[in-house]
Amino acid sequence: MNLFEAIEKRCSVRKYKPIPVEAEKLNKIYDAINKAPSAGNLQAYQVYTVTNSEIKQKLSKAALGQESLIQAPILLIFCAVPARSKKYGKRGETLYCIQDATIATAYAQLAATALGLATCWVGAFDESEVIKALKLPIGHRPVAILPIGYANETPEQTTRMALKNLIKGI
Ligand SMILES: Cc1cc2nc3c(=O)[nH]c(=O)nc-3n(C[C@H](O)[C@H](O)[C@H](O)COP(=O)(O)O)c2cc1C
Repeated sequence: MNLFEAIEKRCSVRKYKPIPVEAEKLNKIYDAINKAPSAGNLQAYQVYTVTNSEIKQKLSKAALGQESLIQAPILLIFCAVPARSKKYGKRGETLYCIQDATIATAYAQLAATALGLATCWVGAFDESEVIKALKLPIGHRPVAILPIGYANETPEQTTRMALKNLIKGI
C-alpha cells in the first residue's frame, strides 16, 4: 500500500478482534514512530505500550469507558516530554513537545493502516487518571492513546470540509 492509499484507507475503528498483533508489524510501527520529524530532532515524546488487561481497564475508565481500549490487543500511549524540548524555552515546553508526540501518533496510525491494522486516536481521557494508571514519570504528559489491532467493524466513511473552505490562498 502506498502512502496515498494508506491516507485514503485510514479511518477510526472502535471495535477490534481478539487477535494479537504480530511482533514484526509492531516493530514496523515503532520504526515509523521513530522516523517522525521533531523540533530540533529532540524527539520530545515517549511512547508506552500496554497489553496488560488490568491497565487497559484502568485506561478505558480514564477515557470515559471507551471499550476500544479494552478490546484492542495493544495500546500505544504517546506522551509529550517537555524537558526534552527545554532548549526551545516556553515554546519547546508548551508546544513543540506536544507537536512531536502528535506527529509520531499520526505516523503510527498511517503505518498501522499500511500493515492492514486498524487504529483510533483516543484523546478524550482524564490526564491525571492516565498518568496514575501508567505510573508515568513526572513531566510525561499523555497526548494520545492509540488502540491497535484487527478491525471488527467497517466504519462508514467520514466526510470532510470542501477543500475551498479549508485551504485559502492569501
Ligand atoms: C485529537 C483527537 C482526539 C480524538 N479523540 C477520540 C476519542 O476519544 N474517541 C474516539 O472514538 N475517537 C476520537 N478521535 C477520532 C475522531 O473522532 C476521528 O478521527 C474523526 O471523527 C474522523 O473520523 P476518521 O478518523 O474515521 O476519519 C479523536 C481524533 C483526534 C485527532
